[in-house]
Amino acid sequence: MKNIDISAILKDGKAYEGRSVDVAGWVRTARDSKTMAFLALNDGTTLKHLQIVIDKSKFVDDRLALVMKNGAAVAVAGTVVKAVKEGEFEINAESIKLLGDCPADYPLQKKYHSMEFLRTMPQLRVRTNTFNAMLRVRSKLSFALHRFFQSNGFCYIHTPIITGSDCEGAGEIFRVTTNGYADAKTAKDEAEYIASDFFKRKAGLTVSGQLEGEVAAMAMGKIYTFGPTFRAENSNTPRHAAEFWQIEPEVAFAKLPDIIEIATAMIKYIIKAVLDECPEELAFFEKAFEPGLREKLQKVVDSDFVVLDYGEAIKILEKSGEKFQYPVAWGLDLQSEHERYITEKVFNKPVFVTNYPKKIKSFYMKQNDDGLTVAATDLLVPGVGEIIGCSEREADFDKLKAAMMERGMNLDDYTGYLDLRKYGSVPHSGFGLGLERMMMYVTGICNIRDVQLYARTAGDLM
Ligand code: 4AD
Ligand code: MG
Repeated sequence: MKNIDISAILKDGKAYEGRSVDVAGWVRTARDSKTMAFLALNDGTTLKHLQIVIDKSKFVDDRLALVMKNGAAVAVAGTVVKAVKEGEFEINAESIKLLGDCPADYPLQKKYHSMEFLRTMPQLRVRTNTFNAMLRVRSKLSFALHRFFQSNGFCYIHTPIITGSDCEGAGEIFRVTTNGYADAKTAKDEAEYIASDFFKRKAGLTVSGQLEGEVAAMAMGKIYTFGPTFRAENSNTPRHAAEFWQIEPEVAFAKLPDIIEIATAMIKYIIKAVLDECPEELAFFEKAFEPGLREKLQKVVDSDFVVLDYGEAIKILEKSGEKFQYPVAWGLDLQSEHERYITEKVFNKPVFVTNYPKKIKSFYMKQNDDGLTVAATDLLVPGVGEIIGCSEREADFDKLKAAMMERGMNLDDYTGYLDLRKYGSVPHSGFGLGLERMMMYVTGICNIRDVQLYARTAGDLM
């Protein structure tokens, strides 16, 4: 017989009542009394555990002791019966088989462990309620993102992971090379070193799929990429990872207000999906991480987002009377503390800050007529700060080239990108949503290391 998912039995116990079933999972807790024993069994299909009721007279004692261990993997055959608690179901065990023993040094013996402690064992932390819920929300969120774009006519494009360009121009690229330490020492100079390397040019892991996404959008109209991106940012913050997932739509013929509309619809759609599809997980996160979480998310679905000009944001910050650690002045970038003040203290909802000074933004953004700002926007949310970086792209060949030269970029690395402005160039816009940042927002988990299966931050590679 095939194992039945524990989620199915817990969700629709009536349909299984009185039936003999097979289930398998890991023991979360084991409880013993004189005549009876109880296992809380979890198979990963739901946050909830299934209670296995054992009549000890039916089992040989030393065999029973083997399954009465936290972390042990067991297979149970038994009958589904009503539990004492109204509407709940459990299993009266007829046979229990030990599939994988779990010795007493299993680290997850307590009910509560700190997130820091769990980070030291990514191979086991997945077996906690927090990670069980986090991973399911991440899965639902990812699928909802696909659904949103697919149902709106976007084509899913797989952009390369290995690239020869730096989309954000910030030099935070992980190098890709097959040259070793010895080669570096014998090469006369960097050019010779690179010439002997695998690609015969400088290569790195992509920081964003945007540049190639633009190529695809200039033929397919509406596209999105969804995959891992990499940044060698040595910033040790709770919001920066070296490897994170980005969803990046790119839309031909769209101007900044159009792409803001798409981003707003997407955020509302995916939050609604998580509210609908993960009620138990959100209830758990609300209790364990963020009081009022579900109300916050519902409000995002129901209310309008703020669109605020960067210049206005600076005025608000200057007038705030707050003592910020970093200076506030027109022309300076907004730091996390400023972003959070605006979104948490002033508006308490998501805010698009638009038209940033061009000097602090990337080369590809459309230059506004004022000559000072670009048609770019960041979406800021309470608790996390920036979750989306968005812009209309510069579609004019000469202006784009000038912006690249001002930044000292090597134009030879971007001839294909410049070609888009030469052959049938049209206005187009896109954005990048950081999946982990979004996960932090919907779960209330406040460290990016805890919304990934494996944390990927500087100095940490488990
Ligand atoms: O604002 P960013 O740098 O924008 C881009 O990469 C554009 N090329 C996107 C586009 O227009 N297609 O990054 C986009 C988002 C950020 O808003 C943030 O959510 C996330 O990616 N992000 C990070 N998430 C985790 N760790 C990091 N180090 C991140 N850097 C950016
Ligand atoms: Mg950004």
